[in-house]
Order: sequence, then structure tokens, then C-alpha cells
Amino acid sequence: MSLKILNFFGDRGLRIVRGEAQYVWDSQGRKYVDFHTGHGAAFLGHRNPYVVREVTEQLNSIMTLTPNFLSPVLEDALSSLSRVAPEGFTYVALLNSGSEAVELALKVSVRYSGRVSFTAFRGAFHGRTLGALSITWRRAFREPFKELLISSSFAPYNDASGLDSAITEETAAVFLEPVQGEGGVVPAVPEFARAVARRASEVGALLVVDEVQSGFGRTGCRWGFERLGLKPDIVVAGKALGGGFPVSAVFLREEVAQALRLGDHGSTFGGNPLALAAVKGAVNAFIEDSVPFKAREAGRVLKEMLEDSLRNIRAVREVRGAGLMIGISLRFRASRVVNCLQSRGVLALSAGPTVLRFLPPYMIGEGDAEYVSEATGKCVRECYG
Ligand SMILES: Cc1ncc(COP(=O)(O)O)c(C=O)c1O
Repeated sequence: MSLKILNFFGDRGLRIVRGEAQYVWDSQGRKYVDFHTGHGAAFLGHRNPYVVREVTEQLNSIMTLTPNFLSPVLEDALSSLSRVAPEGFTYVALLNSGSEAVELALKVSVRYSGRVSFTAFRGAFHGRTLGALSITWRRAFREPFKELLISSSFAPYNDASGLDSAITEETAAVFLEPVQGEGGVVPAVPEFARAVARRASEVGALLVVDEVQSGFGRTGCRWGFERLGLKPDIVVAGKALGGGFPVSAVFLREEVAQALRLGDHGSTFGGNPLALAAVKGAVNAFIEDSVPFKAREAGRVLKEMLEDSLRNIRAVREVRGAGLMIGISLRFRASRVVNCLQSRGVLALSAGPTVLRFLPPYMIGEGDAEYVSEATGKCVRECYG
């Protein structure tokens, strides 16, 4: 008997056979505009040509090597990453998923500060491994495993009044998403983000910015925190960074990186040659194709069109987001609209129970934006009735 996949997210009932740029096709030959993009990983589009070229070439030389051996692809990937790394960061660790990168950020913070408590925010999502889960807000995710979690507190997001009590001399690090993704696509207010940074620095806690979803151009800036005027100590990236290939990164300031000792962390596949080649290709695409600029422009057009087609619908509370990270807050379950959109040839996802989330690739055109906006208007009306 053939094995069944243990499905973490619920079966979407589609058999997808191909993806190209902003579209995917199912086995019936039906085309979909992809605003789901594998939870945002294909922000550079499916089979981005820069990424495909680098990974294909790499397959012909070596596939397996850990980064404690030098190699041309490691040198290339590091010099590519230097072109997009947040300013002032001298070290990068390469891992395979966002959660793993968050785990490393937690460990480094403990090493650096000698403290073991963390602060995150209501609505936060940092992953589902045990450390990352400890700073993830949603009770349903945490509750079954609560005995295994590390000490953490959650302050109100976008409300500075809770910061003094939540961030104290015991706090090793504060984890902040520039735009909360899973929590409902909520951009951080700059004054609030700066108050977080001030309070962290006052008590000697590190500021970790989680850019797994918001980073690498998606919000219209290279990194989402740039919009907020922050100077974080650690930046965590993933999803889009590998152009669809599984890669994550932790950027560290010199003195923070120095706190980590040999043996504190490790990963068999972290920084493997194919992932390095994918990063090199992704950075090439990012620079050559002015990805943040295009995401900003496409995001503006899409948001305007969505606002137009959702105007005067009582079921819609708000259309919000930054760049191509867009959420539509509804008065009913977003999964109903996700299903309706799929039947109309649009793949989307939700962010919590009542927010419809779009994470489109940067190259969407006006035609895609128009099609999705109209379909969204129709689906919201249909599902709310
Ligand atoms: C902000 C944020 N951090 C961390 C993660 C975890 O990343 P991964 O699913 O790659 O482990 C996610 C995933 O959605 C995320 O949005």
C-alpha cells in the first residue's frame, strides 16, 4: 500500500503539475494565478530563470558539501548576500527553514546575554519548532506543547504601553515582525517599532527582526525593518531568499556572532551547494530586476484595485499590508473565500481565521491584479450572503 502524506495544512484538492513565473497549472491543464506561492516562498516567481540557471549549473559540479569547506559557490553566495545584507552585519549563518533560523537566533541571544527569557508580540508567528513556537502567539498552536516551551511573554503589538512590563532586565531578546504575517498581515507602526528598539536597548536585550515573510523585497523595501528605521542586532530571513529553494539565513552583528561557540549549533544541509547556488541566483534576480521597486509598484496597484472592488461590502473590514504582502480583514471565515478563489483560478491563503492573505510574486502585471481583484469582490459577496 502506498504511503499517504501527513498533511499539515489541509488538502487543497488540486494536483499541480507545473509553475512558471506568477502562474501554476493543474493536471487538467487549468491555469491559476498564484498568490499563495508556497506560503510566500516563490516571491521571485516559479522557476525564476536566474535561480534555475545557477542551480542547474551547480548540479553539474557538486551537490553535497558543508560550508566548513571552501568552494566557489560558497564564495559567490557570500558575495551575493553581501550586496543585499542589512547594513552593519558581518556574519551570516545559512539554514534550511525559517523556524530553524529562529532557533539559532534564540540560542545566540542566550549566549550573548546570559538570559533565557524572550519577548514577542500578540499575533506573532515565528514558526512551530519548540523554540520558535515559544514566541508564537496563537494559543491553539502552543497549548498542546506548553510544558515544553521556553519562557516568553507577549506584549501588545502596535501599542507601546505594554513594553516596559514585557521587556525587562531578564529579557534575552525581543522578536519583532516588521509586518505580522500569520497574525493577520499587520504592518508595525514605525513609532511603536522604535519604542520597542529603545526599550530593548535600555534593558540590554537584543532586538531580533524576523524577516522570514516580510524580507527580501516583498514589502517594497529590501528588508521590512528599513521602513521602520530600526537597527536590529539579528535579522532572520527565509522563504523568498532562495527563490523557492529551501534556504534561511541569520544575519548577525560582529559582537553578537562572537558569542556563539563551536558546537552550539549545526545543520547537515544548512548552506549546501544547491541552496547557495539558489541564493546567488535569487540575489541576481533581486538586483537585476529591481525587485523591491517592482513589488512596491505592483503592491500599490493591487491594493487600489482590491479597495475598488471591495468598496461598500459590509463583510470587509479593511484592506491592508505593505508592498506585495496584502491582507483583507473580513467579518467571516477567510477559508471560504480562499476556496471560492481557487474555483475561479486564483490561489490564495488565509492569515488566522478571518484574514484573506495574498503573497503574490513580484512580477504580477495589471491584468493579474485586475483579475484577482474582481474575483475577490465576487467571492466575498458570494460567501458572505
Ligand atoms: C515571520 C515568520 N517567521 C518564521 C516562520 C517559519 O518559517 P518556516 O515555515 O520556513 O519554518 C514563518 C513562516 O510562515 C514566518 O512567517
